[in-house]
Amino acid sequence: MKVTWLGHAAFLFDFSGVMVVIDPYISENPACPVKLDEIEHVDVVLVTHDHFDHLGDAVKIAKKFEAVTAGVPEFVNWLSSQGVKAIPGNIGGELDLGKGVKVRLAPAFHTCSRGVPVGFVVSRGDEVVYHAGDTSHTAYMRTIGEMYDLKLACLPIGGTYTMDAEEAILAVKDLRPKYVIPMHYNTWEAVRADPEEFARKVREETSSQPVVLSPGESVEL
Ligand code: NI
Ligand code: MN
Repeated sequence: MKVTWLGHAAFLFDFSGVMVVIDPYISENPACPVKLDEIEHVDVVLVTHDHFDHLGDAVKIAKKFEAVTAGVPEFVNWLSSQGVKAIPGNIGGELDLGKGVKVRLAPAFHTCSRGVPVGFVVSRGDEVVYHAGDTSHTAYMRTIGEMYDLKLACLPIGGTYTMDAEEAILAVKDLRPKYVIPMHYNTWEAVRADPEEFARKVREETSSQPVVLSPGESVEL
């Protein structure tokens, strides 16, 4: 699995050629060095909630590549109205998105305008990724840790709008992923955080391995 961090909460996952993008805040993202035109192919577009720093270029990307998306009905109905192929589901259920990709909608403690915010557990074969979206720590993270053998968790550490690094450590302990990538930090002053400090605590206090990326950087996990 190849993972590319596009800055903020935007990630591109390459599951053996099946491309999944989450929260594609690209063209307006001050932290994203990648141009929208440089994204060559996308099969699945997932958006945790409709705040601008997560919805980003999702509609444009989904339409360009005829990619499928999924989410809570109130949000995907709106995505459908924009011409996007959208599969409705809700928290706790697992949705089959085709091409071997399955997604479970996880609760996120946050706000939004359409429906409710979610996180995603995305799996393809035995490769399982949890993207928390914008949230505090939630009790459901322990459920995810018990249900799945997570290869990767992408967790916000910036505080102010989401959990901070201290809370993210509690999340890592519950989720027990093999790898953890911090996100949603240093995009603006309000989400200032030190990813190396977070990484040090992950190594000291958990058995997970921190992976600190620069925006635009890829890693094979
Ligand atoms: Ni938000
Ligand atoms: Mn956000």
